[in-house]
Amino acid sequence: MDNPKYKELKGKVVGITGGGGILCSTLAHAFANQGAKVCVMDLNREAAQTVSEKINNAGGSAMCIKVDVLDRESLEEAKKAIAERFGPCDILINGAGGEPSIGNDQ
Ligand SMILES: NC(=O)c1ccc[n+]([C@@H]2O[C@H](COP(=O)([O-])OP(=O)(O)OC[C@H]3O[C@@H](n4cnc5c(N)ncnc54)[C@H](O)[C@@H]3O)[C@@H](O)[C@H]2O)c1
Repeated sequence: MDNPKYKELKGKVVGITGGGGILCSTLAHAFANQGAKVCVMDLNREAAQTVSEKINNAGGSAMCIKVDVLDRESLEEAKKAIAERFGPCDILINGAGGEPSIGNDQ
């Protein structure tokens, strides 16, 4: 985290929904590696927390929030919590979702 390639991302506040998942956890680490402050948001609180802890343990700056992107109130609360901790969100990545399980023929 000492030699970021994209210096313009340093200090930016990045919110990532679905941040506990495969693609967006990778994005969360990538933004953190560039010096961004990352909020990992996911319906799966444990998954979000794991990603956030890994980033913080590696010297980055992350927080996590349980969010349901289908629930407006949940999103409003997340927005407020991010602003209080990191400041207003500069970048929002919406990756919440996921695929139905593979192999289901029905
Ligand atoms: N992986 C792929 O090849 C691929 C291809 C095309 C599109 N996508 C889309 O990209 C996104 C991320 O894919 P992925 O493979 O990382 O999926 P993933 O299942 O690993 O991650 C999705 C995350 O979204 C979270 N989530 C689901 N519903 C939510 C909700 N209502 N509120 C908040 N969080 C919620 C899940 O808990 C999960 O952690 C998905 O929307 C997926 O449909 C993925």
